[in-house]
Amino acid sequence: MTKISLTTKDFSTLDSKYCRIVLTEDAPTWHRLVETTDGKLEYRMGAGKRKNATPRTYRTLIRTIVQTAKSHQLENIAIYLGAMGCPKLEAMGNEWFFRTLAENLQLAQYEFNKYKTKKKSDKELKEIVVCGVGTPAEKQSFSAGLTIGESANLTRDIANTSGGDLTPSKLAAEAKNIMKGTKTTFKVLNTAAIKKEKMGLLEAVGKGAEDGPCLIVIEYWGAGKPTKKGDKTKAPIALVGKGITYDTGGLNVKPSGYMHEMHMDMAGGAAMIGTMRAIAKLGIKKNVVAFIPAAENAISERSMRAGDIATSMSGKTVEILHTDAEGRLVLADAMTYAEKYYQPRVMLDAATLTGASLAAIGQFASITLTKDQSLSDTLMKLGEESGDLTWPLPLWDEYKAMLKSTRADISNIATNFSRYAGCIEGGIFLSHFAPKKTPWAHIDIAPRMESIPSDKLAKGATGEPVRLLVRFVEEY
Ligand code: BES
Ligand code: MN
Ligand code: ZN
Repeated sequence: MTKISLTTKDFSTLDSKYCRIVLTEDAPTWHRLVETTDGKLEYRMGAGKRKNATPRTYRTLIRTIVQTAKSHQLENIAIYLGAMGCPKLEAMGNEWFFRTLAENLQLAQYEFNKYKTKKKSDKELKEIVVCGVGTPAEKQSFSAGLTIGESANLTRDIANTSGGDLTPSKLAAEAKNIMKGTKTTFKVLNTAAIKKEKMGLLEAVGKGAEDGPCLIVIEYWGAGKPTKKGDKTKAPIALVGKGITYDTGGLNVKPSGYMHEMHMDMAGGAAMIGTMRAIAKLGIKKNVVAFIPAAENAISERSMRAGDIATSMSGKTVEILHTDAEGRLVLADAMTYAEKYYQPRVMLDAATLTGASLAAIGQFASITLTKDQSLSDTLMKLGEESGDLTWPLPLWDEYKAMLKSTRADISNIATNFSRYAGCIEGGIFLSHFAPKKTPWAHIDIAPRMESIPSDKLAKGATGEPVRLLVRFVEEY
């Protein structure tokens, strides 16, 4: 873990143990590590022309600084970014600037070493100090950024952990542990409670595993709990996250090469845990409830079969044509539960739902599906602002025909097994279970499940879309 702080000290008066990062207007490929005449280390890095800097290049720059420090095995670095003279960054405001700085330092210092033997020779990046402290408001933004980044890193820890080490009940225990000390209430519906609530879809997905399914519910009443039923002014924001702790595909087993990363199939649920922690720590004055349907899509003689028909909590029957389309099943029941017991004012779900989303957009952004244009616009705007990019696809009624089942109310994949519009198909299925009068958006985060080299982050889980969701809660 790297210590990250702001200092009032000037760059030149810093202790000589710090390697000073000096940014130049050279091309971002240019860099030199030099020893100055006073015997201090200085790393000169090209950052490109100031006038061309954008929020996107700024985030990458911060991460590159940290990656570079790590690759040179520097233990203490100092950064000075003040008075940058970058018009496009200044337009975002200083609070955005400081929060983004802290978030990205935090995300970039992260490593996942849980399963690695520590070598004595390994040098760690111990400390990052940022010179040129800002106003109290800017300091507060910096500190909020650290909290948000730290929460996203906890999300990454959960997602990076192997499926066998974080089965549904262990995920629930871990979530409880992470929420400890925050002003949240924590509840887990175990398998028996799931049966009692008639959540037949969540039950079906989880029943093949030794550790049965559960529903994790985390409440945060930052604006005060509703005192009477139907108090719309206090209605919470509902965040629903897919918590498939491991996805073998079920009896429609995944081929090799497609299964080994499926311990990350709870990235949506993990993001909700991280988001709840961040908003509770920041004391945001909003009401938010997170729902994480957790299940292992396992193979055993008890597993659901292709062709089985299960009854959802909503009463709708579902023909499970494909056992690998399990995420939508668990989310459907969690959404019904959220609406029945909490009547939220808006609902978002995040899920590593389809491989088809990667085919559609690549690995740079998540895909948003909603009928609510303003919600779609908000998520796109906040995505650009936070770095957790999202881009829309349509959720037109025309697509509903795909899921018309012969024997049940709907099927979980296209009845003709078509591979077309697979990402939309997932959203269309969920739309059958979304609240009727409440704005709802589905975010397919499968494209962002795993980092890519241009992210300048550690390999593995990205912790998205925690930054986006925190901003959403703040602004909605
Ligand atoms: N968890 C997967 C989707 C996924 C694939 C996420 C690759 C991240 C990377 C999901 O449960 C799944 O298996 N979806 C199927 C749906 C299909 C059977 C309609 C898929 O995408 O192939
Ligand atoms: Mn699957
Ligand atoms: Zn899955």
